[in-house]
Amino acid sequence: MLELHKKSCEKMDEVRDHSVDLVITSPPYKDEDGYSPRLMRSVASELNRVMKPGTLAFVNFGQLAGDKSRPLQCAAEIGKYLEWVDTIIWVKSNPFNGGHYTPINSDYRMNNMWEYIFQFSKGKAKIDRLSLGIPYMHKSNVSRYGVFDDQQQKKDIRCAGNVWYVSYPTVQSKKQKPHKDMFPEEIPTRCLKLANLPEGSTVLDPFLGSATTARAARKMKMKTIGYEINPKFWTGTIDDEDEV
Ligand SMILES: C[S@@+](CC[C@H](N)C(=O)[O-])C[C@H]1O[C@@H](n2cnc3c(N)ncnc32)[C@H](O)[C@@H]1O
Repeated sequence: MLELHKKSCEKMDEVRDHSVDLVITSPPYKDEDGYSPRLMRSVASELNRVMKPGTLAFVNFGQLAGDKSRPLQCAAEIGKYLEWVDTIIWVKSNPFNGGHYTPINSDYRMNNMWEYIFQFSKGKAKIDRLSLGIPYMHKSNVSRYGVFDDQQQKKDIRCAGNVWYVSYPTVQSKKQKPHKDMFPEEIPTRCLKLANLPEGSTVLDPFLGSATTARAARKMKMKTIGYEINPKFWTGTIDDEDEV
């Protein structure tokens, strides 16, 4: 289910204190898309109010050609209200292995292949590292480092680390993308797996866009509360009957 609020997330009065189990979001990066330090401060303070103690917030922030420090300034601002636990580098494309990226035309910079995903928590929040695990390359490490399964056997699985290779599907035109700055569904899906929450939990995306977070959460039988100011994304991006 999606509870969509067609308004700015600067104040989220519709969301009760300490009622949210997980935040997954991607704020506007550019001034012309609505970014402002004041908005980030206000949202960070609201997240601190609505999140339950011991929960996680994943904030994806893209890069700007003209202001390389903005994502880190934004993270530092949120870090005044929540604990900044980790920084995930999301590699959007591996050109050696296929995968789409938008080339830039520049004599000064190379094509940008990655974005930040900042991991915050309110208080201490455990993650399920092995939910995104991969097998050991050298099997001798299974007995050395592997963790025990239910049968007290060492498992051939290890934490894959904080660099995520998640490619966009290749698109031939802008029309094929419901939102110019959407993330692939795999991104919120990974955050949901790490959070390891029970069905029926509440996920908040204050910058819902085309509702990618809501689609991923619905597949795991979780509810999403979303805020979005652009009417272009209020219908059609997720089944309308899901809205309340
Ligand atoms: C980076 S996009 C999010 C894309 C989304 N993750 C997706 O996959 O479609 C940021 C979104 O925030 C919205 N937005 C900007 N300012 C906002 C505000 N004050 N309150 C709520 N939404 C806002 C924009 O309209 C835009 O759709």
